[in-house]
Amino acid sequence: MPSVTLPAEPPTPPTPQTATPRSSRVTCPRLAARVTTAEEAAALVRDGDNVGISGFTGAGYPKALPTALAARMRAAHERGEQFRVGLWSGASTAPEADGVLAEAHGISKRLPYSSDPTLRREINDGEVEYVDAHLSHSAQHMWFGFYGHLDVAVVEVTAVLPNGLLVPSSSVGNNKTWLDRADKVILEVNHWQPRELEGFHDVYHGTRLPPFRAPIQLTDPLQRIGEPYLRVDPAKVVAIVETDAPDRNSPLAAPDDDARAMAAHLVDFLRHEVARGRMPANLLPLQSGVGNVANAVMAGLLDSEFEQLTSFTEVIQDGLLDLLDAGKLVGVSATSFGLSPTGVRRFMDDVGSYKGRILLRSEEISNHPELVRRLGVIAINGMIEADVYGNVNSTHVMGSSIMNGIGGSGDFARNAYLNFFVSPSTAKGGAISSIVPFASHVDHTEHDVQVLVTEQGLADLRGLSPSARADVVIDRCAHPAFRDQLRDYVGRARRERPHARHTPHLLAEALSWHQRYLDTGSMQAAPTPEEGRG
Ligand code: COA
Repeated sequence: MPSVTLPAEPPTPPTPQTATPRSSRVTCPRLAARVTTAEEAAALVRDGDNVGISGFTGAGYPKALPTALAARMRAAHERGEQFRVGLWSGASTAPEADGVLAEAHGISKRLPYSSDPTLRREINDGEVEYVDAHLSHSAQHMWFGFYGHLDVAVVEVTAVLPNGLLVPSSSVGNNKTWLDRADKVILEVNHWQPRELEGFHDVYHGTRLPPFRAPIQLTDPLQRIGEPYLRVDPAKVVAIVETDAPDRNSPLAAPDDDARAMAAHLVDFLRHEVARGRMPANLLPLQSGVGNVANAVMAGLLDSEFEQLTSFTEVIQDGLLDLLDAGKLVGVSATSFGLSPTGVRRFMDDVGSYKGRILLRSEEISNHPELVRRLGVIAINGMIEADVYGNVNSTHVMGSSIMNGIGGSGDFARNAYLNFFVSPSTAKGGAISSIVPFASHVDHTEHDVQVLVTEQGLADLRGLSPSARADVVIDRCAHPAFRDQLRDYVGRARRERPHARHTPHLLAEALSWHQRYLDTGSMQAAPTPEEGRG
């Protein structure tokens, strides 16, 4: 894979210092000449372009250009003209990025992960095509040419150095690939991002295309294998917009009883694994998805006896900062921050103390199957539902409507030393069981899933046949209100199909719980006449 290097001598003479207002963050004379307004920069994006934006879990996304572009789109639509773009990112962004463009009906296709509610509605209404790729695949699929041509990259950075190197911001995501592959580059230099972020990143520039790939020489989560900067060919930079705006920084609700119960089951199980000699006393590098359960697990580890922990993950939430501050976590490798407003303040107040203990990498490296497998990561991710045989649905409600996307859950779970999928045992006030006869969509197959956790308990599926798993999942994880119904299903499947007992199913009934919810608003079976009389 060609990697872009800056020319030793710029092909054109540097712009005279007096010609452009100098920003303290854009100190490359040649690139300082490109500083302009968001409106002028947005005018460089055309209908039908594929646009690769920065951003991962609400961090490091462009803050100004999407709003200016959305205004152009709305104006074009009012004139009866079409104006939509293909929008590629690192992962989820924020209302000022995905949100404004979705509200302007300006997105034709989106990849690879999003959690924006307006965009979700448009995807589920069929207005937007959504390509829900594994995050570790998105950069390489771009390089393989699977997604087509990238016209424009819009990337937030912290600073542009005198030699043209870019100091990344609070996420790295797919920025390296977008900068390498796009025809035109628009940079947003965000003065809100601490200037001290320089040195927090490790951008690997060594990926090659098959058949020329070589092993990635990373054997420790905190090992540096790249350089702290993003590179861009200055000739491609068509505009630089300066901003001063915070990341999304969504507040985190305090863990509720269910989250605390799930965290307690999981931490107890890790203790059990150490006692059995299946894991070192400081565990193995931790990966945890975003959300309150992940944060509750980190809080559970904070109160535990575990020390000298490490983390090889995607997103740094407050719980990881707590572990760092308490000296329990040696360091964390990720691709992005995902802090609450309190977490951000804590980080910003003491940025220097985290340098060397936090490394942000491209998502193709933070989520790389080779590295996850080599390091022996413990992967902890949320799910929507699991079936009694261990198939996990992370993405779809009632089989058809996307919730967010698979994110990095497949990258980590499939290659982990040990994986956990966690969810409350019911949803929607108890109307839905998260443990069902058959998952209505499968993201992680029964072959990939090792441990299921709900507030009810933990089911260790390792080494069990599908039929044996069903008993454990029902007994340990299902909500008591649904246990008998599940036992009845599996029992009848075993009896009625005596020669199909490896993974017993009644095909006509396998998805009937979901249909019942759609028809009646509940997965609960109607009481039989006898039960009704009782
Ligand atoms: N059926 C229908 N809806 C369900 C459901 C089920 N079985 N389980 C959960 N939901 C709904 C909840 O009711 C809630 O809806 P609301 O927003 O209308 O209240 C929503 O899904 C989120 O559920 P919640 O219990 O709050 O869990 P969460 O915030 O932890 O999210 C996932 C769970 C699965 C949606 C989330 O973990 C995800 O997107 N995972 C896929 C990507 C991933 O794993 N990323 C991490 C790896 S890096």
